[in-house]
Amino acid sequence: MKICVIGTGYVGLVTGTCFAETGNDVTCVDTDKSKIDRLQKGEVPFYEPGLGELVTRNVGEGRLRFSTAVDSGISEAVISFICVGTPSSSDGSADLKAVEAVAEQVGKAAPKGAVLVLKSTVPVGTAEECTKILNSMKRADIHVVSNPEFLREGTAVQDCLIPDRIVIGTLDMAVSALLRELYSPFVRTGHPVFAMDHKSAELTKYAANALLALRISFMNEISMICEKEGADIANVREAIGADHRIGPQYLFPSVGFGGSCFPKDVRALTAHAREIDVEPRLLQATLDVNEAQKQAFVGRVLRHFGGEASAKGKRVAIWGLAFKAKTDDIRESPALTVIDGLLAAGMKLHVFDPVANANAKVVYGDRLTYASSTYGALEGAAALCVLTEWNQFRHPDFGKIKSTLASPVIFDGRNLYDPQALKKLGFTYYSIGRPPASN
Ligand code: UDX
Repeated sequence: MKICVIGTGYVGLVTGTCFAETGNDVTCVDTDKSKIDRLQKGEVPFYEPGLGELVTRNVGEGRLRFSTAVDSGISEAVISFICVGTPSSSDGSADLKAVEAVAEQVGKAAPKGAVLVLKSTVPVGTAEECTKILNSMKRADIHVVSNPEFLREGTAVQDCLIPDRIVIGTLDMAVSALLRELYSPFVRTGHPVFAMDHKSAELTKYAANALLALRISFMNEISMICEKEGADIANVREAIGADHRIGPQYLFPSVGFGGSCFPKDVRALTAHAREIDVEPRLLQATLDVNEAQKQAFVGRVLRHFGGEASAKGKRVAIWGLAFKAKTDDIRESPALTVIDGLLAAGMKLHVFDPVANANAKVVYGDRLTYASSTYGALEGAAALCVLTEWNQFRHPDFGKIKSTLASPVIFDGRNLYDPQALKKLGFTYYSIGRPPASN
């Protein structure tokens, strides 16, 4: 099938590459020339395990190409996928300018009977809006489908090639069959394909992300209760996760959720619910708890140092800047809130992330000191904050940490370590939802 993917961010580049991998002829287009230049040289513009090899192979075998010629890409495709960003507007709602502009471009350039697929996360009613745009351009022959993407950064290729499910939002049987055919190599092991109306498909994406975010906020709230009561959130998590009705996923307490999806999508659904006079109590609470969780981490650090006044001028090491492991993405990373809070208190921060230092430098410039090695960040620091669950932070050399830090104090935002073991090693150890451990 001839496919055009518009927008080469995580969703567009991964989706386009995976379609090429199953033999389709794919053109990925983007108006960002520097991004396309890099892709044409074989460079993936962000860190995503496994994606580089797949891009190189499919480009090499002639099934995948990159271009800034958006119209010509669209004009040759049976299906055009919209994968452009839908950032938060100032009121939290999704900004649809880019989506609508691409719908117009598809209206201008697409061949007769083409299919326009909305993969960007868009509020309920967007497929209908795009249909209106196309109708107003006398392009009622173009079919609009809402086909949300559920891939996670860090495991995006696997999530795309082996999805839990595919959602196809169209009631047109022929178009639905075309999409089923396109996805059939990905769902051979019996993963379901759900066909439904546009609006239900659009809402499915928001509801899935909001529910996962809600689970995390719920656990973070329970972790606060554990901390005050001296209970251990790890015991609670394991025992409730063993209940089949609950399940173990997305119950890990943390310094807060971040990334390009959860915060933005929950905000957008919250704003949308208000617009249609539904009070989004749980959605708002999900966001509020998340904010409180990030601030609580800052509070814990400052309290340890005896409050803001005495924390001023002290040096702290930070391991992890990305919003989670296996990505260099720092968008809405809880690390940013922690860094902002500690900088505002006048602390000096030495940071290290295996892949995200460069992205943090764009935001903070010389307000942070960037270490080039894990232990390099620790020198002279009065404490270590662990904010991302990178594998290399899981089993560090605690002897080396202790001898390099100016004082043996760890604030763990991901519960990577055993409190009793750290206490025995002479650390003062703070984690999430577990009593602090120290001698
Ligand atoms: C998410 C959805 O999972 C994916 O389906 C959707 O397409 C895009 O949004 P992603 O943002 O890549 O994917 O990350 P995810 O792995 O879901 O984690 C989101 C955030 O929640 C991270 O900050 C992560 O650290 C945090 N998290 C996750 C927790 O704090 N606890 C958990 O148990 C799980």
